[in-house]
Amino acid sequence: MYKTFFQLARNPFDLTPDPSCFVSTRRHNEALAALYYGVRWHKGFVVVTGEVGTGKTLLLRCLLRLLRESKDISYSYLFNSRLSPSEFLQYILSDFGLPASGKNKSELLLDLGQFLVSRGAKRLTTVLIVDEAHHLSDDLLEEIRLLSNLETTDDKLLQIVLVGQPELDQKLDSLGLRQLKQRIALRAQLGPLDSNETKEYIAQRLQIAGADRGRAAIFPEDTVEAVYQHSRGLPRLINTICENGLIAAYARQSAVVTPEIIGDVAREFRLGVISPNGDGEIGSGTEIDIRNAANLLLDVFAALRKPGVGEADLRALAEVSRHEPHI
Ligand SMILES: Nc1ncnc2c1ncn2[C@@H]1O[C@H](COP(=O)(O)OP(=O)(O)OP(=O)(O)O)[C@@H](O)[C@H]1O
Ligand SMILES: [Mg+2]
Repeated sequence: MYKTFFQLARNPFDLTPDPSCFVSTRRHNEALAALYYGVRWHKGFVVVTGEVGTGKTLLLRCLLRLLRESKDISYSYLFNSRLSPSEFLQYILSDFGLPASGKNKSELLLDLGQFLVSRGAKRLTTVLIVDEAHHLSDDLLEEIRLLSNLETTDDKLLQIVLVGQPELDQKLDSLGLRQLKQRIALRAQLGPLDSNETKEYIAQRLQIAGADRGRAAIFPEDTVEAVYQHSRGLPRLINTICENGLIAAYARQSAVVTPEIIGDVAREFRLGVISPNGDGEIGSGTEIDIRNAANLLLDVFAALRKPGVGEADLRALAEVSRHEPHI
């Protein structure tokens, strides 16, 4: 309803994790690069953790979009991790297009093993991606660890991506799961945005929605600062506050969202002002490679955003990554 008033083509702060709204921040780039690099170069286990609403599912959707560009990658994407081991195996087999109903656990494991071996022999990449992995039971985590044992002398047959809230880190730290922890090749964390990133985030999301950066800002500097204070830099909260700020400004027929409006919204949502903390960084020695991969991803995303970009351009970009050696 406010789109015409603010001359926007779409809702800038929609809560759906939509890759076309992706805003590059250092941590998001590094985490996405760790995911992509880990899968592409057959690193085995990759784990990304982050607080609620920091962009984990969005990152996975960006990853899936990138993986879909490559014909040699097949993935199973699991977002309901509260399954029994048999249900879990059935789910991934079906996702890979294999018949799964009516089979017992050992039959399912056998079929999956054969599938992975035959794909591995053709140097194809097979990926299991689990969102909300903090909900995985210890049994299921152990099952996943056993799947990670499927490897040839020089290659891992299944790439495994686990993404979840910080409780996942705690689980992986537990004594019972130390074997799994040792297998993690790449780890990245997402955290809240800092004040400059929040400013850039708001500006970019408005721009993606069609706002003209040259026009007087809908969100002036002091308003952005108020959003940052109340959201503590958490992207989902930034979206909620900004979206409600736009609605309130529209209701008052104000072309600008003022800090007072943001204060009102924060009170309605019972958000205090808390100084942000928490940092996130790549927990691996392969930072240089990851930064290179991040640059590659930025190019890919830039290409995806360009209107009229040809598939050939994307393939050429993906080709760059394919020429890199496996492992
Ligand atoms: N880098 C980013 N660029 C654009 N939007 C982002 C970014 N990071 C997060 N968001 C937005 O923040 C919101 C929350 O993101 P998402 O749902 O991915 O969080 P999450 O970490 O998966 O949360 P949860 O732990 O609750 O599952 C979404 O609207 C998403 O689009
Ligand atoms: Mg999520």
